[in-house]
Amino acid sequence: MKKARSTLRAVTAFTRLTPLTPISALATLACAAGIACTAVGGAQAHEVAKTVCGPCHGVDGNNAVPLFPRLAGIQAEYITKQLQDYLSGKRKSEVMAPTVSNLKADDIPQLAAYFAAQKPAAGTPAEDAQLAAAGKALYDDGNTGSGVPACVGCHQEGGAGNARYPRVAGQHAAYTTAQMLAFKKGERTNDRARVMRAVAERMTEQEIQAVSAWLASL
Ligand code: HEC
Ligand code: HEC
Repeated sequence: MKKARSTLRAVTAFTRLTPLTPISALATLACAAGIACTAVGGAQAHEVAKTVCGPCHGVDGNNAVPLFPRLAGIQAEYITKQLQDYLSGKRKSEVMAPTVSNLKADDIPQLAAYFAAQKPAAGTPAEDAQLAAAGKALYDDGNTGSGVPACVGCHQEGGAGNARYPRVAGQHAAYTTAQMLAFKKGERTNDRARVMRAVAERMTEQEIQAVSAWLASL
């Protein structure tokens, strides 16, 4: 944990030093040798992704640091909403709020399209197969005893998501767990109609860990 925090501080400092203005000037050069270059989102989005977002999220949205969410393949509608929520303060993050406020207005939809178009890397095999199996059962069927709805009803088969409900497959377990706990405790409140708070409030920490382990393995 301590190590993750100091990595976070180091990367935040790095980001503050990264000048944003020359990015558009570099746009014509972007994609020349980019590893995850795609026309979607445009050259400018690729350059911002590479210089600003990449150190934490991975240039192609597939990073290995458990506390930084993977973004590859997450629907553009959801990414756009989250970036706007960080900007307005509806979703709180000391890291993301200053990052987003440094972006230009048209960067948000372009970055969302860019990360949505990246190919998700394979998930991390679950260390505890039994825990992951319990997570899959909860995802598919919910818990009728305590009233936890089946996640699949919204987030779709295998966590793939759609335009209304985000992809949750392949996400780092530590990040998913942190978000579910934040919804449960009412610390994350940007879900429309309290939908995720209502789900997470009914879950035990064990159930949260189980479903996070399963989703990470996909
Ligand atoms: C210093 C590291 C860092 C940088 C740089 C950074 N992020 Fe983040 N990002 C985070 C962390 C940490 C979170 C989780 C914050 C939270 O708990 O809400 C996050 C969350 C997000 C989310 C929400 C993901 C989800 O699944 O809900 C999006 C979208 C996002 N970042 C996009 C970006 C984009 C686009 C950039 C570049 C313009 C960027 N980030 C730059 C660390 C970073
Ligand atoms: C009624 C529909 C619905 C159900 C059922 C539901 N979710 Fe969600 N979930 C949402 C919506 C909508 C969001 C996006 C909230 C926002 O805009 O920030 C979300 C967001 C999330 C996030 C945050 C993703 C991120 O990248 O930060 C996680 C994790 C999640 N859901 C997991 C689950 C799990 C696990 C279950 C089952 C136990 C579940 N959800 C059941 C609608 C639902």
